[in-house]
Amino acid sequence: MATLRDKRIIVVGGSSGIGFGVAVAALEGGADVVIAGRSADRLKAAVTKLAGAGRVRSIAADMANEADVARLFDEAGAFDHLVATAGTPPPNYPIGEADMDFVRQFVDGKLVGAVMLAKHAIRTLKKGGSMTFTSGINKDRPPVPGGSVVSAIAGSFTYFARALALELAPTRVNIVSPGWVDTEMWDEIVGEAKTGYFDQMAARLPAGRVATPADIAPAYLYLMQSEFMTGETIHVDGGQRLV
Ligand SMILES: NC(=O)c1ccc[n+]([C@@H]2O[C@H](COP(=O)([O-])OP(=O)(O)OC[C@H]3O[C@@H](n4cnc5c(N)ncnc54)[C@H](OP(=O)(O)O)[C@@H]3O)[C@@H](O)[C@H]2O)c1
Repeated sequence: MATLRDKRIIVVGGSSGIGFGVAVAALEGGADVVIAGRSADRLKAAVTKLAGAGRVRSIAADMANEADVARLFDEAGAFDHLVATAGTPPPNYPIGEADMDFVRQFVDGKLVGAVMLAKHAIRTLKKGGSMTFTSGINKDRPPVPGGSVVSAIAGSFTYFARALALELAPTRVNIVSPGWVDTEMWDEIVGEAKTGYFDQMAARLPAGRVATPADIAPAYLYLMQSEFMTGETIHVDGGQRLV
């Protein structure tokens, strides 16, 4: 396994949730980390929390905006690994009530954004580097009703990575697919009902609890470090696909 010591890692979505967990773990591994997200305030707060852990800085950028994505890689400079965890709560209305503006916004932020990240990352990604994107359990266990869009988008990442891994070889391209993870996103989706949701889910899960970002981060680290992993999707879901 290659070391992350002194490697530069860009984490798009690193100001919160799963991405913040990856930033913590990468810093512990000796990496130099750049976190990106849209909100400068959230980034500033995250850098303050991470500062004691190592070399970290932030760049504000919206991955749905190509000029922002191009500037992100210009400002970050040459780097070794890209991790993208950025995402927003998905559309959850039955198909007959789909709000097409919201659907397009979601697809732009998640899938089109990933395409733009890959397009611009290759300009400055060093030889031997990798890209890791994030899908999720919704492709395997779609919420019913209302899960069709998020399921389609999450599912597409596996095939995005397979094709890109061939096109960009020897650069490696992989996917992490988390189950439910206790992050700020859930506060936005269900608010105070989160505890009840998580208690019910924990009772069903073989792992007996909902994940924390620290449970998911090692999968990203493994995919960055393992020089023989490419075109792969790793599921870290506490057994959720089994129940
Ligand atoms: N949490 C779960 O249970 C779970 C399970 C499976 C899959 N996932 C997926 O994992 C990803 C991360 O989820 P999370 O729970 O970690 O969410 P989170 O805590 O809300 O964090 C999302 C991060 O993405 C950034 N972001 C959102 N839109 C962006 C954009 N257009 N450009 C740049 N940065 C953007 C946010 O910062 P700003 O808002 O400041 O931009 C924040 O840093 C999502 O795609 C989600 O669907 C989550």
